[in-house]
Amino acid sequence: MDRIQQAIEKARALREARATGGALPVQDVPEQDWRPAEHTPAPDPLDTEDPLRLGAPLVVAPAPAEDASDSPGRRAAPEPTRGSPLSGPHSAPRAPRFHIAKPELVWQKLTPFKPDRKQMHRNRIVTYDRTEEAHISYDIMRTRLLRALRKNNWTSVAITSPTANCGKTTTSINLAFSLAHQKDTRTVLMDIDLRCPQMANMLGLKESHSMAALLDGSGEIARNFVRYGDTLAIGTNELPSRYPAELLQNKAAAKALERMRGELKPDVIIYDIPPMSGNDDVIAFLPHVDCVLLVAAAESTTIDDVDRCERELGAQTNVLGVILNKCRYLPEQDTYY
Ligand SMILES: Nc1ncnc2c1ncn2[C@@H]1O[C@H](COP(=O)(O)OP(=O)(O)O)[C@@H](O)[C@H]1O
Ligand SMILES: [Mg+2]
Repeated sequence: MDRIQQAIEKARALREARATGGALPVQDVPEQDWRPAEHTPAPDPLDTEDPLRLGAPLVVAPAPAEDASDSPGRRAAPEPTRGSPLSGPHSAPRAPRFHIAKPELVWQKLTPFKPDRKQMHRNRIVTYDRTEEAHISYDIMRTRLLRALRKNNWTSVAITSPTANCGKTTTSINLAFSLAHQKDTRTVLMDIDLRCPQMANMLGLKESHSMAALLDGSGEIARNFVRYGDTLAIGTNELPSRYPAELLQNKAAAKALERMRGELKPDVIIYDIPPMSGNDDVIAFLPHVDCVLLVAAAESTTIDDVDRCERELGAQTNVLGVILNKCRYLPEQDTYY
């Protein structure tokens, strides 16, 4: 936490210095200027103690132990048992009650999706074509995430933040495309930010998906997911919902997610969920996930926000780490945290 505090304070100091000197804040930087800050690869990031560590432009603060079952108050999900009901906030249910068809057949039925390179670049999805150095940070995050999930026998991670605009959707999509390069891993990416669904726009997806229909059990998987390659399924949402928390904690949602897991058989599920402030959607959805990542924006999230959210999340699920996003300043000798 000291490191993230240091980074946030430095980013804020830099912003203030820029403000007085008339420089642009990060949000106003033209897209093509979005570059990783100084990038000094660590010798072997996987051998460090932090389970998820990331260089610029994103920084992952020290998370709890990679094996979250070591931490008091956090425990690993139990071995999946067929047909288990929701078993509590720290152990998302995984065992499918439905067996429809071989997952390969279900995946084949999904509409193939080929994103537009320029659109992806414009929206800072750097893991798609991997021409920007910044993708390395996401790849490291992906590998650490995979290790943490496998070690704890988890499959699902939700990505949230204290407030809106911290970069949840950007992070979720980048992680998902980074995982898509991992050909032995099936990944499902879902837009659960039902009040403010942005994933389809960001991806340039024209299909009119309805996550609300999928979650209330009236929507079919084949109609509400597209497939990138053979290993990434993406479910978005065209229209915002008014009272998502009620939908998210409805038994029908648990059943629908169980069906999705049963049909698509994903190794990793990334849920892009709403910010924590101003709604009860996150609390309503947490019982469906194994762990969370918290995204903080270097120049707008306060350390108190991070602290409060981490504590609140930690009481309900396993917090895998904090990602410090939009961090354009990193100390020269400490590029990685
Ligand atoms: N690392 C980053 N550096 C600069 N801008 C970013 C970064 N991550 C996200 N953004 C921008 O911040 C804005 C909000 O990002 P988004 O992912 O939609 O946030 P959220 O989903 O948390 O509301 C978008 O314009 C996005 O392109
Ligand atoms: Mg979003």
